[in-house]
Amino acid sequence: MSEHPLPLVSETGARRGPPVAARVLQSSKTSRMGGFDNGRCPAQSGDTTAHELYDKYVSFVRSYPDVLDRLVSIWNVFDLEALKQFIGRLDLDAPYEAPVLSHKRYVENREAIRRLVRAKGAHSDADRGYLRGDFVRGVYSAAAVAYDSVWDSVWSYENRQQIVKALALAPGQRLLEIGIGTGNNVRHFPQNCEATGIDFSRPMLEHCRAKLREMGRGDVRLLEMDAHRLEFSDASFDKVLCFYTLCVVEDPFQVLSEVARVLAPGGRLVIYDVVRSDIPEVVLLQYLYRPIARELGAIYLQLCPPGNITYDSWFDVWGPTEAAGVEVADVTYFDPFRTVLLAFYQKPL
Ligand SMILES: C[S@@+](CC[C@H](N)C(=O)[O-])C[C@H]1O[C@@H](n2cnc3c(N)ncnc32)[C@H](O)[C@@H]1O
Repeated sequence: MSEHPLPLVSETGARRGPPVAARVLQSSKTSRMGGFDNGRCPAQSGDTTAHELYDKYVSFVRSYPDVLDRLVSIWNVFDLEALKQFIGRLDLDAPYEAPVLSHKRYVENREAIRRLVRAKGAHSDADRGYLRGDFVRGVYSAAAVAYDSVWDSVWSYENRQQIVKALALAPGQRLLEIGIGTGNNVRHFPQNCEATGIDFSRPMLEHCRAKLREMGRGDVRLLEMDAHRLEFSDASFDKVLCFYTLCVVEDPFQVLSEVARVLAPGGRLVIYDVVRSDIPEVVLLQYLYRPIARELGAIYLQLCPPGNITYDSWFDVWGPTEAAGVEVADVTYFDPFRTVLLAFYQKPL
C-alpha cells in the first residue's frame, strides 16, 4: 500500500482558505485532515510535484474507472474518514480490483463515465475557461422548465431564506442577483428594496417572469444580460447575490471583477456556491470528477438526470474574490467536505 501526501493545487500559489474561522454546519466530522494535510504549502500551478501526483491519480482512474464508484459512494455520505482511508490505501502501482459496484447512478452510467474519464483532455487543470458560455446557456435554456422540479428538493426554501437574509437588505437598497434563473430567491426579497435579476438564458428568464407575475412581484426588474459584461455603471448596487451561479460561469474572475465594479463602496456581496474544497483528499475527488460533473450532470450523480445540469466545482472562490478586491467578512460551510459555502464580502469604502 502506498501513501501519497496530497498538496492542494491553487492557481495563485498562496494557500487559499477562509481568512476567518470557517464553520461547518450539519456535521460532526469537521476536523481537518490528519495524515495528508501535513502542513505542506499547497502547490502552485507550476508545482510539478503536485501535478505529477494528480496525473498519477488521473492515469489510475483512467485505467480503473470503477474507483469512482467507491469514491462517489463515500461522497454521498460525506464520510471524510472513509475518504482518507480509501485514498491512503489505494495502491497506484497495482491493478484496482473493484468490489461489487454499489453506487446506483455509477452503475447506470458506467460506460458513459468510462468514456468521459478516458477522453483526451477530460482532466484539465486549467482554472479558467473550463465551461463554455454557449454550452452552459444551452443547458439551462433546455432545462428551464424542469429546473424547479429538479432543484427545489435539493435547495430548500429555508436555505434560500437564510441566504437572502444574509444580504441584510435595508429599505430602498438596490439589489442585483447574478444568474437569477427561475427566480427562486425572489419570494424572500423584501418588497421595499429595488431588486434586479440578470440571466443570459432567455427561457430561464421567461419562466422567471411568469412566476413573478403569479407571485405579484412585478417590482423585480429582469434583464437578459451576460454576467461577464454587466451593462450597469459603476457602484450601481448596494448588494449583490450570486447563488449557485459562479460555478457555472465561463470565467469567475471576470464575473467577480464586474460584480465588484457595480457594487457601491461599502456594499455587500453574498456568494452561495459549490466550490473547490480546501481539504486535499476532497480536492482530488473533485478533480477526478470534473469531466463527469461537466458532462453528465451533478457531481453526486444522483441529483439530476445525466446531461441536464452542468457545473464546475473546481472553482476556487478565494483567488477570484481576492483579485476582484472584495474583502471576506464571514464564511460558513454547509457540508463536511467544505464544498458548499456561504460567504459574505464587503467592498472597501
Ligand atoms: C444554477 S442556476 C442558479 C439560478 C438561481 N440563482 C437559483 O438560485 O436557482 C445558474 C443560472 O446562471 C445563469 N448563468 C450562467 N452563466 C451566466 C452568465 N454568463 N451570465 C448570466 N447568467 C448566467 C444560468 O442561465 C442559470 O439560470
